[in-house]
Amino acid sequence: MTQPRGQWSGKLGFILAAAGSAIGLGNLWKFPYMAYENQGGAFVLIYIAAVLTVGIPIMMAEILLGRRFQSSPVGTFMKAGADRPGGKLWAGVGFLGVLAGFVILSYYSVVAGWTLHYILLALKGQLGELARQPELLQDHFVNGFLANGWQQSAYHLTFMALTTGAVFFGVKGGIERVARYLMPLLFTILIVLVIYATTTPGFDRAMSFLFRADFMAIDRYGFLEAIGQAFFSLSLGMGAMLTYGSYMNRANSIPRSTLQICGLDTLIGLAACVIMFSIIFSFDMQIQKSSTILFTTLPTVLVQLPGGNIVNGLFYLLIAFAALTSTISLLEVVSSFAIDELRWSRRRATLTMGSAIAVFGVLNAWSLGGSQALSTVNPLGRSSTQGLFGTLDYLAANWFLPVGGLLIALFVGWFFRRGDAFAELTEGHGEVRGFGLWRFLIRFVAPIVVGAIIVSVILGYEYQ
Ligand code: PHE
Repeated sequence: MTQPRGQWSGKLGFILAAAGSAIGLGNLWKFPYMAYENQGGAFVLIYIAAVLTVGIPIMMAEILLGRRFQSSPVGTFMKAGADRPGGKLWAGVGFLGVLAGFVILSYYSVVAGWTLHYILLALKGQLGELARQPELLQDHFVNGFLANGWQQSAYHLTFMALTTGAVFFGVKGGIERVARYLMPLLFTILIVLVIYATTTPGFDRAMSFLFRADFMAIDRYGFLEAIGQAFFSLSLGMGAMLTYGSYMNRANSIPRSTLQICGLDTLIGLAACVIMFSIIFSFDMQIQKSSTILFTTLPTVLVQLPGGNIVNGLFYLLIAFAALTSTISLLEVVSSFAIDELRWSRRRATLTMGSAIAVFGVLNAWSLGGSQALSTVNPLGRSSTQGLFGTLDYLAANWFLPVGGLLIALFVGWFFRRGDAFAELTEGHGEVRGFGLWRFLIRFVAPIVVGAIIVSVILGYEYQ
């Protein structure tokens, strides 16, 4: 028997949950350090261009597929592809998404675990003390904490338990309730921090670092990373938005929701950069390991507020919740596959998939210094996350998601009926003025941009 499909409680429910999926460690942890490693300016502008030309059209495509076919990614592509050229092969897009969800969650949850470590440090009254001495804080994090595989595993497993619990209780009970109350609080704190950043001496330098483009400073890998980051941050290319779209009410507008989610997500990523770079430049911080800047810059400023230790703890608590609304969506993709396609109960699906990812993720927890063997796994990427962790992040963000997104764009642009897309985008919205533009982007611009970057990197590898 099929279970009744869950639904968001309304317009705000969908927006908050989908924004909750998009906004997370991708914006706060990953985007700033990627921008830092790629010398800012050009990277940030390419990122923004990617959101506009590739991210927005693909998000609409994913949500419309989800709402039309009312299935998990695999089921959707099975149904949608059935009577088209390629037929059952399209289901591969769904499987790639489930694989990406599995892989991403297995290391994302490790980073989410870092926030738990900070919350605990604050509760013990130690975070304030560390934050008063920036060098000590970096040392604690990079040389102490990252090298401790046991500790990271424990936090990672805790975070996976929280995620599994939330998905277990289903669409309305778990996912929505969390997103509804905590995201607005996080936004408020970020706005306050941006205002603070404008008063710091490093603000001007931060702005020119972020927005003055030097395209010579970026190579084709920089392009790949910028586009990969756009997919990662917007939760695209693996069916997360598709799955959430399948719970979306027909009375809501897909184009409007998409623009709101993409706008918010991009603003938050930029805000995180402005805040962190202002701090780095104001205090001339020497960054030991760029992938840790979320954890080493902000505490040094927050600690100056009254009750600094607690304020710091609270901030990481909100980040933990932002991460949770993202990990929920990752697990939701993997388990809704089992629910819809394997006909498992929600209970069985979430518990089994959650445990499998948790166990696999322990390897990532050990691969940042805890275990010699795992830390030295041939790093395919070039970012400062190393070992197995870095390799999986590189593969998922720069290959699985963009390739998935490329296939989704090709499917919706070339194999999906124009009239069906039009009907779905119109429903709940009214007349869609930009429909022609959207169709042009999804048919030509998105596939060509993503395809060209992928091809140039592949050829680059061969000729090296
Ligand atoms: N978008 C999330 C973030 O930025 C991560 C994510 C990627 C979630 C892919 C779901 C799917 O933190």
